[in-house]
Amino acid sequence: MKVNGKHYRTIWVDENNTGIIHIIDQRFLPHEFKVVKLQTSGQMCIAIKEMHVRGAGLLGAAAGYGMYLGALEANESTFDHDIHTIAAQINSTRPTAVNINWAVKRQLSAIKIGKTKKEKIDIALRTAIDIADEDTRYCRQIGLHGLKLIEKIANAKPNSIVNILTHCNAGWLAFVDHGTALSPIYAAREQGIDLHVWVDETRPRNQGSNLTAWELGAQNIKHTIITDNAGGHLMQHGLVDLVLVGSDRTTLTGDVANKTGTYLKALAAKDNNIPFYAALPSSSIDWELHDGYKQIPIEERDAEEVKYVQGYMNGTFQRILISPENSPARNPSFDVTPARLVTGLITERGICEASSKGLLELFPEKNPQHG
Ligand code: MRU
Repeated sequence: MKVNGKHYRTIWVDENNTGIIHIIDQRFLPHEFKVVKLQTSGQMCIAIKEMHVRGAGLLGAAAGYGMYLGALEANESTFDHDIHTIAAQINSTRPTAVNINWAVKRQLSAIKIGKTKKEKIDIALRTAIDIADEDTRYCRQIGLHGLKLIEKIANAKPNSIVNILTHCNAGWLAFVDHGTALSPIYAAREQGIDLHVWVDETRPRNQGSNLTAWELGAQNIKHTIITDNAGGHLMQHGLVDLVLVGSDRTTLTGDVANKTGTYLKALAAKDNNIPFYAALPSSSIDWELHDGYKQIPIEERDAEEVKYVQGYMNGTFQRILISPENSPARNPSFDVTPARLVTGLITERGICEASSKGLLELFPEKNPQHG
């Protein structure tokens, strides 16, 4: 997407030095747009863990590039041992988004085909670029499939605006480009559909008010930031036509793990007969899992994120305590929305019902009975 007229992806290789990976450091948005360079797998692990980069698809791409940096660091004589150690370090950065593990596995099976260190490095770079390019293509496809849902709503209410509610940030910043939940919104905007987005602020890290609002504003899309608990009220008053969210891990059975608070939006949507869709590339489907609530690991982040807010004042970032200093806090960062509350899944291959039947119809090669 464009920032000040220039096209950016969220992660890319330096064009003159392939040992340097560039990322947009998202901790400073929307106030400062900072591009930083990473040169070691250790730096990439920190960038993932401390959320300089975040969002399912971007985490997968970052893990892919992290493995490539790891291949550069590994010793020729102990390459296999070294690269597996680095793989374990990358895998341990964040637990919920399955894309990290998916990208690491993809790199390990690609790299092992190389015979020399040079060959392994070349394969790792090619694979990292492929992961990033594929993410971009799939997100655009998700946009085009999701567009049909928005068109249908727009046609059913001519001359009125389409209101969409989203949670957290599943825009281009959460992927390599385009995004998932926001990709149909960008496609609808290109078609000239009149729409407006309710942006959940998404406490405690405020990916909604910091990132989604910034993204939408940059594309001139009408939007309003709301508190995380306002969605139910807006739904009761007919002010939401569609809920569109992303997913960090979706089970074979269609359960969706997404930023904490998503489940409550799905409950409210169900109660108000509002369609609730999750948009996701197949890289974030965990084909092994059948029960999201029991099986998806939920990241528990530092309680300090709940007790302090970060803001921007007089040109600097400030951190402010907003609760009694000694009160304990907890910070489960994701929750699981069961398939029964999900109207459908928007994938790169099309839209399906949130069930193993729906997913396997779109991805028949994942069916164990597939010949
Ligand atoms: O903790 P984050 O910011 O990495 O969480 C990811 C998210 O932004 C969401 O849960 C998102 O809606 C799905 S992944 C793009």
